[in-house]
Amino acid sequence: MEINGYTKLAAVVAKPIKHSLSPFIHNLAFEEVAENGAYLAFEVEATVLSSVIDSIKTLDMYGVNLSMPYKEAAVAYVDELSEVAKLTGAINTIVNRNGKLFGTSTDGAGFFKSLPDFSVKDSDITIIGAGGAARAIIAEAALRGAGKITVYNRTYKPELFAAYPGQIDFKPLSDLVSLSGDLLVNTTSVGMDGVSMPISENLVIPENMIVADVIYQPIETPLLRFAKAQGCQTLNGLGMLVYQAAESFELWTGKVMPAEMILEKLEEKIY
Ligand code: ATR
Repeated sequence: MEINGYTKLAAVVAKPIKHSLSPFIHNLAFEEVAENGAYLAFEVEATVLSSVIDSIKTLDMYGVNLSMPYKEAAVAYVDELSEVAKLTGAINTIVNRNGKLFGTSTDGAGFFKSLPDFSVKDSDITIIGAGGAARAIIAEAALRGAGKITVYNRTYKPELFAAYPGQIDFKPLSDLVSLSGDLLVNTTSVGMDGVSMPISENLVIPENMIVADVIYQPIETPLLRFAKAQGCQTLNGLGMLVYQAAESFELWTGKVMPAEMILEKLEEKIY
């Protein structure tokens, strides 16, 4: 689609951001759905974050995505927050609603969309890690009525989950000596090196457990290889990356991103 006087802007705001795949995803989506938009990456300093967010209104942008390290700080500069944003205190998306800024996180919704056969309601979910990605997935799971959520983390930080009384069982990672349930998700960076695993190699993963990793580089982490060898269905984090973008895109444009097609193009590009 040709850029012209009517083209509307969306962007990602972060630091660093030059290697982001989001411009590729969103600009392909604008093209595919014939929406006259463009998406850029802005690497900005923390000191200008509030004026950058203010420019969403002055430039009549669709909105922005936020990435590290601004997901928490941006919360202070929006007019309204979604339930999931209130639970996590972090946003990855700002939507310009006629001059009012709405902040939300699409990471958790994107994660569950990347698992089309999985029904969150009443499910038994185990999460490894308690950082930003974990908290987004946990908030979405809790809001959708997961039956049981168990979180294992290297560092004991139960206060992170005070907003979910009785809903989350928080344990030190060293307590992970057996696994059961419907879904295991690794949200830590363990496995990016292609050799490390966040769980012991002596653990048995039940065959009916879906095993997901938020890592997408390498294409298959040691955890996913280990789980596959035990007969589990596995999934890397590239789907989450595309579907969180799809959720933001839909909030901005009202149009559905052709996410499966874009996922295939992205796979061709990076693997
Ligand atoms: P993200 O936003 O991608 O979730 P993050 O907020 O930095 O990243 O969170 C990183 C997560 O990976 C944390 O849960 C971290 O555990 P700690 O809270 O104990 O720091 C976890 N993590 C990172 N390196 C790890 C390692 N070598 N072993 C176990 N957990 C690790």
